[in-house]
Amino acid sequence: MTFENFDPKGVNLPIKEQRNLGDAYKLARRFAEEPDGWVVFQGRNGCGKTHLAAAIGNYQLQKGKPVFFKVVPDLLDHLRATFRPDSNVTSDELFEKIKAVPLLILDDFGEQASTPWAQEKLYQLISHRYNDRLPMVITTCLSLEEIELRIISRIVDPRISVLFEIDVPDYRADSLPLEEERRKVRGRGGHARIW
Ligand SMILES: Nc1ncnc2c1ncn2[C@@H]1O[C@H](COP(=O)(O)OP(=O)(O)OP(=O)(O)O)[C@@H](O)[C@H]1O
Ligand SMILES: [Mg+2]
Repeated sequence: MTFENFDPKGVNLPIKEQRNLGDAYKLARRFAEEPDGWVVFQGRNGCGKTHLAAAIGNYQLQKGKPVFFKVVPDLLDHLRATFRPDSNVTSDELFEKIKAVPLLILDDFGEQASTPWAQEKLYQLISHRYNDRLPMVITTCLSLEEIELRIISRIVDPRISVLFEIDVPDYRADSLPLEEERRKVRGRGGHARIW
């Protein structure tokens, strides 16, 4: 997933949606040149959030810069395993690295079903990166009301963060070749997957 294989106009989109996707693309490109603060991509399944986040990460990697790309539910699995309240582990190398890495990408934020303990760790991570103004990209399907208040208050802080809602349909469905196939997928409801 790179900028080169992302179509900033989407597939057969009305002009308003083309502009929205084009702006998301430009924002991602600008950020990839010089990561500063946070970019949060919000939007429905398949709108291109992960692709743009991964393109940012790949761009930085190509320049030889360190990047961590983490899918949040996987990260929480890891934290749950390492930081059980009854565990003797006092420090976790991976967690410390993720806290400090120059660019962190958190994909699928909010998809996590987790314990309060792991949630607390996730909050610590976000709060640490907020306090130290460390660059981060977050993707989420959630609306603001669905995100924990103490996290959202950081995400909406315009001094550090740009929150961008990508308002285009699922690319997976729209790139299906047959109109009939598209209708089938749409018929399954808003969060349709084609596999
Ligand atoms: N504008 C685009 N140009 C080219 N490919 C795209 C575009 N938008 C999405 N895709 C492709 O469609 C698929 C779904 O996109 P992506 O994974 O970025 O969606 P998402 O918003 O992260 O969805 P989810 O919320 O389900 O994780 C990927 O294979 C991605 O490469
Ligand atoms: Mg995604």
